Amino acid sequence: MSRNSHAFDLSQYLDRRTADVNRALDRFLPKEFAKPRTIHRAMRYSLFAGGKRMRPALVLAAAEACGGTTAAALPAACAVECIHTYSLIHDDLPAMDNDDFRRGKPTSHKVFGDGIAILAGDALLTQAFEILAQTKATARFPHSALVLDLARASGSLQLIAGQVADLEGEGKAISLPQLRYIHERKTSALLCCSSRLGGMSANCTPAQLRALTNFGYHVGLAFQVIDDILDITQTTAQLGKTAGKDVAAQKSTYPRLVGLEKSRKIAAQLTEKAFAALRPFKGKAVALEAIATYLLKRDK
Ligand code: IPE
Ligand code: IPE
Ligand code: MG
Ligand code: MG
Ligand code: MG
Repeated sequence: MSRNSHAFDLSQYLDRRTADVNRALDRFLPKEFAKPRTIHRAMRYSLFAGGKRMRPALVLAAAEACGGTTAAALPAACAVECIHTYSLIHDDLPAMDNDDFRRGKPTSHKVFGDGIAILAGDALLTQAFEILAQTKATARFPHSALVLDLARASGSLQLIAGQVADLEGEGKAISLPQLRYIHERKTSALLCCSSRLGGMSANCTPAQLRALTNFGYHVGLAFQVIDDILDITQTTAQLGKTAGKDVAAQKSTYPRLVGLEKSRKIAAQLTEKAFAALRPFKGKAVALEAIATYLLKRDK
């Protein structure tokens, strides 16, 4: 396991960064009473329902690892959280995973109806790019570089491709490589992009960007394996979303394909690869190391 993370107070780090991100999101989003009120209430309802904010944390920690500041990385941090929240609102729709609970509350479509939930997702997706465009350009990375990265990660070859394959795989016997394809896209792509955008906002070197890409990719894969495990081992109250849904919907997951024990082993191996990717930072990427450790051991 990582050598440096024991000396690092991750919970305090996450509390502070989450507070920064929440304040910034509140500033970037239209006010709750802006017309039409329904859509702005719905956007804020899901965004501030209490997610773990792990993607913004990755953006900010990656920026710090490259000598950047929280202030410069905040637009990217908020942008990835908007994309993530939109993807959850749509993921929960009756036509997709049909979930009633998310982040400890009734899902968007349960509160506002399917139409407004779809539109709240659409609005958050668009909002993400409006926010990201407010990042200051650096010597190595013009705005277009960051926008391109986020657009690719969330587009039809990555996040959406993963969601398509996830839906089409329901009830089917799929292979491990096919499951890996799904996880790379539906989950790892955005975590990887988060790590990269943090570096880009800090004018990272090409070697640093390669390290962050490799790190984010492996952390992202581990993240979804753990998500699949938690769906089986945790309760709805603990997760803040309905447990046991994957088995009920006959989703292809690591536990279904290889069992719980082997799944845990795979998540640990992927996390080791993520640690190895941080070697170029020579022990200075403490927050990233601590986040990777936490994501492996998390219970929600
Ligand atoms: C859930 O993501 C969706 C997946 C990609 C597995 P999180 O576990 O990060 O959800 P929140 O943001 O904490 O609600
Ligand atoms: C969600 O995967 C991935 C995206 C929303 C892109 P899951 O369907 O496994 O996420 P949960 O378990 O509903 O949070
Ligand atoms: Mg899903
Ligand atoms: Mg789901
Ligand atoms: Mg899941």
